[in-house]
Amino acid sequence: MQVVATLSLKGGVGKTTVALGLAGAAQRHGVSTLVVDLDPQANATTALDPEPTTATVADVLDDPRPAVLRRAIAPSGWGEGLDVLVGAEQTERHNHPDPGIKQLHRLDRALQRLATGPVADGEPDGGYDGDASDIHDADGEQYRLVIVDCPPSLGQLTRSALSAADRAILVADPTMFSVSGVQRAFDAVQTERERSNARLQPLGVLVNRVRPRNSEHDFRIGELRELFGPLVFNTVVPDRSAVQQAQGACLPIQSWDTPGAREVSAVFTTLLGRVLRSGRTRTPSGS
Ligand SMILES: Nc1ncnc2c1ncn2[C@@H]1O[C@H](COP(=O)(O)OP(=O)(O)O)[C@@H](O)[C@H]1O
Ligand SMILES: [Mg+2]
Repeated sequence: MQVVATLSLKGGVGKTTVALGLAGAAQRHGVSTLVVDLDPQANATTALDPEPTTATVADVLDDPRPAVLRRAIAPSGWGEGLDVLVGAEQTERHNHPDPGIKQLHRLDRALQRLATGPVADGEPDGGYDGDASDIHDADGEQYRLVIVDCPPSLGQLTRSALSAADRAILVADPTMFSVSGVQRAFDAVQTERERSNARLQPLGVLVNRVRPRNSEHDFRIGELRELFGPLVFNTVVPDRSAVQQAQGACLPIQSWDTPGAREVSAVFTTLLGRVLRSGRTRTPSGS
């Protein structure tokens, strides 16, 4: 199981769009995937249109036991192979500016249970309560990919995502503030790697909403490449109205049949390949 977070410390740059695009690509390619919606605005949950649940990720952050996790996960409305750990406004109560280490690791602990199968009795926090068997397949791993969609602030929620992730995708828009935003996001990844999660690595910077032949956009992308070098993906996500149309219809961009949608889908197929390749080369985690 590989955990990827979509990150930027600014709202509206496309974190959710990238999380959804990657999820759609994974589903298309038969990669069993869970989207974790950590943003209290819960836009990813709205777009993924899951069946109703009796718990949300806010409850999982209160109590990461398998029984709670199971109640907070539902199949997405996009079809087979894609589930959602649903977001909710209540998640905001877990967004302390300076959380303790125990709070910070709750998401990681919950996700590790999906990766390793039912946990043994007598775990310090109450442990396995005996009813998680149906969230695991025969290998003890239901999801090959977990995508965590972060809120735009650097509080407990984003730090929880970074504490649980193998890779962070830094999303940027081609504007004059993007350089400082990407720098702060890199610093956040670096800090969390040193503080709580040695396996965390930045996968790269994905520039979103790029308009072709826009000299300001070209200039800003050049600026990012100068500063962050090969960490800036050559492939950028174009600005296409199909993105908003597909999200509004609660459908994956991969099923939206317009030239713009096909262009955007191709970018997410490339990104998926990159994510999966990074999973093969990663060093074993502290297990
Ligand atoms: N490549 C794109 N083309 C067109 N619209 C986009 C694109 N990326 C994002 N948007 C739109 O911009 C808005 C903000 O994107 P979103 O992914 O929600 O950002 P964030 O999660 O960072 O706040 C949404 O309405 C989304 O549909
Ligand atoms: Mg968002």
